[in-house]
Amino acid sequence: MALKIDLPTSAGAFPIRRLRRLRGREPLRRMVRETALDVADFIYPAFVCHGQGVREEIPSMPGVFHLSTDLLAEEAVAVASDGIPAMLLFGLPRSKDEVGSEAYDDEGIIQQAVRAIKAAAPGLIVITDLCLCEYTSHGHCGVIRDGTVDNDATLPLLARTAVSQARAGADVIAPSDMMDGRVGAIRQALDEHGYAETPIMAYSAKYASAFYGPFREAADSAPQFGDRRGYQMDPGNAREALAEIALDIAEGADIVMVKPALLYLDVIRQAREIFVQPIAAYNVSGEYSMIKAAARNGWLNERQAALEALTAIKRAGADIIISYFARDVARWLKEG
Ligand code: PBG
Repeated sequence: MALKIDLPTSAGAFPIRRLRRLRGREPLRRMVRETALDVADFIYPAFVCHGQGVREEIPSMPGVFHLSTDLLAEEAVAVASDGIPAMLLFGLPRSKDEVGSEAYDDEGIIQQAVRAIKAAAPGLIVITDLCLCEYTSHGHCGVIRDGTVDNDATLPLLARTAVSQARAGADVIAPSDMMDGRVGAIRQALDEHGYAETPIMAYSAKYASAFYGPFREAADSAPQFGDRRGYQMDPGNAREALAEIALDIAEGADIVMVKPALLYLDVIRQAREIFVQPIAAYNVSGEYSMIKAAARNGWLNERQAALEALTAIKRAGADIIISYFARDVARWLKEG
């Protein structure tokens, strides 16, 4: 695709060309705006816990709550009426063990949550995050052998979790573990169990980021030893992100993801230019909490900062934005 740049010539520069002409009034600005947010671009993440009537705010993520399934179902109805098409679910299990058993228990928290949402808001797309880190006692995203995460021993557990989530009614499965070969293993298991039509949204280019800090408090999923650099990507690498995305597509990913979003806009842009598949970008917890904290201090205007940040993610090339601001965006866009 050739770039169309209206380069000033000696005949066409100032005062003939005045780019300010189209900036004078909001209706004109709106008419020529290249990128505009739409509520349909968003996925709203939520944290679900056991119990009844639980609605507990996460201290490092103001405006985000741990919800029990009954209140999650109410939230899902509100999300759907906002016009947001999808939710992404993270679960807090009753108990954790070495192999993350509750992740693939048909009566696990996520499975119950999916059924509750499906009953309350059948039109909403329910996406389940698929990872073991919230469910393992050691907090890593796979099973541990000899002090490290064993890639190949983890794959069957991920596949089993995917099937259990699909059986509960999940519309889309979203693996976030970063094991090699997991998309292929999950695709095969879903197909073998009658879920050939269930799409996979793969966290493909997922970096080992400090900006997941608030999420790990929210999901109680911080690794108990070491870190995730042995499986999540090195922040210095962009070409490798394209390799991760290409492999996930080859293994059957229907939607690919770049995460975090704001710190990796260049990666989103490069992926957009190379791949035809839909690209999701995750505006992660730290990116959310930074704006929230600054706004609370009176240092930033929350609405303007959030809308500018989210517009940047879309302008970089993301088709889908996962953001804790999604419900705020719905409100802000309605307010106009
Ligand atoms: C689970 C997972 C994480 C996030 C999404 N899925 C945390 C991590 O990898 O440590 C981060 C989301 C956020 O920060 O908002 N593996």
